[in-house]
Amino acid sequence: MFSVYDNLSPIVTTRQNFDDLLIPEDHPSRARSDCYYINSSTLLRAHMTAHQSELLRAGLDNFLMIGDVYRRDEIDSTHFPVFHQVDAVRLQRKEHLFENHPDLDIFEPTFDPTNPNAFKNSISDPSKQSCHTLEATKLMEAQLKNHLIGMVRVLFGEDIKYRWVDAYFPFTHPSWELEIYFDNNWMEVLGCGIMRNEILANAGPNNSIAYAFGLGLERLAMALYKIPDIRLMWSTDPGFLSQFQNKDVNAFIEYKPVSIYPHCTNDLSFWLPPTLTIDTFMSNDFYDLVREIGGDVIEQVKLKDKFVHPKTKKHSLCYSIVYRHLERTLTQAEVNKIHEEISSAAVNAFNVTIR
Ligand code: DAH
Repeated sequence: MFSVYDNLSPIVTTRQNFDDLLIPEDHPSRARSDCYYINSSTLLRAHMTAHQSELLRAGLDNFLMIGDVYRRDEIDSTHFPVFHQVDAVRLQRKEHLFENHPDLDIFEPTFDPTNPNAFKNSISDPSKQSCHTLEATKLMEAQLKNHLIGMVRVLFGEDIKYRWVDAYFPFTHPSWELEIYFDNNWMEVLGCGIMRNEILANAGPNNSIAYAFGLGLERLAMALYKIPDIRLMWSTDPGFLSQFQNKDVNAFIEYKPVSIYPHCTNDLSFWLPPTLTIDTFMSNDFYDLVREIGGDVIEQVKLKDKFVHPKTKKHSLCYSIVYRHLERTLTQAEVNKIHEEISSAAVNAFNVTIR
């Protein structure tokens, strides 16, 4: 079980974003040309990993950090200055990791955390950190990779083709990237690795080994739903949003381009008959009726307001109906005519009184 933190402020210090994560002073990711600095020691976080150390210091051991991250970059169909990431940390202690092998250890017997040079040359061996045993590293690696492959299979199907690529991140060692074969291309999905023990030791827990991973959400969603342009993620167009709203999380959704013609929204408010309340009125019956009369110029119907009159105790509902033609611009007069028909049909079908 991971606890979830999705409400952390995006304004962080250079210590959080870089120093705590052992990112060297001269690392290119610190450049003013790449980050949104507020002043020399404060910036909009460039990755969710920026919160790793503060949450470890708070005593957490399994957690997800979810939020908006900011990077200066080109603007094209896959880049936008703000996007979203999920980052994760999972800590394990010896008793847990080696439950069935109490003879095995997380740390090499030569590792002395009290030695000021304990972390010198700690990543010169490509297979593990100098403090960790190979057994602990390999077991964590296997768990990490299994969990992430499981996630990718849930998202993209059992048969998804994937590969692990050796990577470098200043905050993990060893490190990997996961790529999936999607749309005739290898696509990078996430970065991950065994957390540098120096980060853990600085933040508190000194008896554990941890894995971490981080992934970009827009990129995954764009692949999953076939959304061609990252700017659509910021669309408030009902034609876009309604394709995802109120859908089962596991529903198969394939994005259909929104008509380039403008939409037109009309509201419909009515009093319910005394036999019905705002809770017993079946919105779905109303939606069917709207669709039956309006056909496919109906892009969306949403419940806008519920109201109970304080004196008469009469119940009233208000729906917004979004009209849009796929091939031409609708005139207001045309829309009004359909809207009229819907409103008289509602009166007949549900015995409501138009307000
Ligand atoms: N922070 C990295 C990025 O934004 C992604 C990442 C890689 C996060 C490895 C991690 C990790 O937690 O272990 O590109």
